Amino acid sequence: MEEKWLHALGAMVNGIYVLTTGDDARMTGMIASWVSQVSHDPPMVMVAVHPNRYSHQLIKKTGSFALHLLLKEQKHLLVHLKGPEPEKRLEDLAWRAGETGVPILQDCLAYLECVLRARHEPGNHTLYIGEVVGADLFSAEEPMSTLDYEGFYVGKE
Ligand SMILES: Cc1cc2nc3c(=O)[nH]c(=O)nc-3n(C[C@H](O)[C@H](O)[C@H](O)COP(=O)(O)O)c2cc1C
Repeated sequence: MEEKWLHALGAMVNGIYVLTTGDDARMTGMIASWVSQVSHDPPMVMVAVHPNRYSHQLIKKTGSFALHLLLKEQKHLLVHLKGPEPEKRLEDLAWRAGETGVPILQDCLAYLECVLRARHEPGNHTLYIGEVVGADLFSAEEPMSTLDYEGFYVGKE
């Protein structure tokens, strides 16, 4: 891709989310910014996940995921959730199992718990579309977004 295309794409503004998935046996979390609402009724959201991510298979297997909006002061999570052992990333964080069994983080600005309804592979990421089955907003502050992040997610691999 041409460099200027990359920078135009990188200028798109997105939220920065923690995506969690898993069940009793295995669970994990990762940072995701390619996220959007795609339906009001039923409420649905989409996240684009590269097949190399540990979460990729786990979302397919469990059929559920949760997206967490972050407070701007939670930048340490960007480092924490890059840890080399994906299954251990949630160990130090407070979470509870949602109604689908997916881990819901206690400390966040808001969360959306989703049941997987569709999956598309239009390019090099899988679009997971989930119906929101649980959600809450805990703060009126502005959420963390790509405007708070130096650099951008390129999505190459
Ligand atoms: C700001 C930011 C946004 C990201 N957005 C996405 C995304 O939308 N989709 C994706 O697959 N990876 C995304 N990533 C990359 C993953 O978070 C990262 O590679 C992580 O290590 C997950 O891979 P793993 O769980 O297999 O280790 C993003 C990373 C950052 C720092």
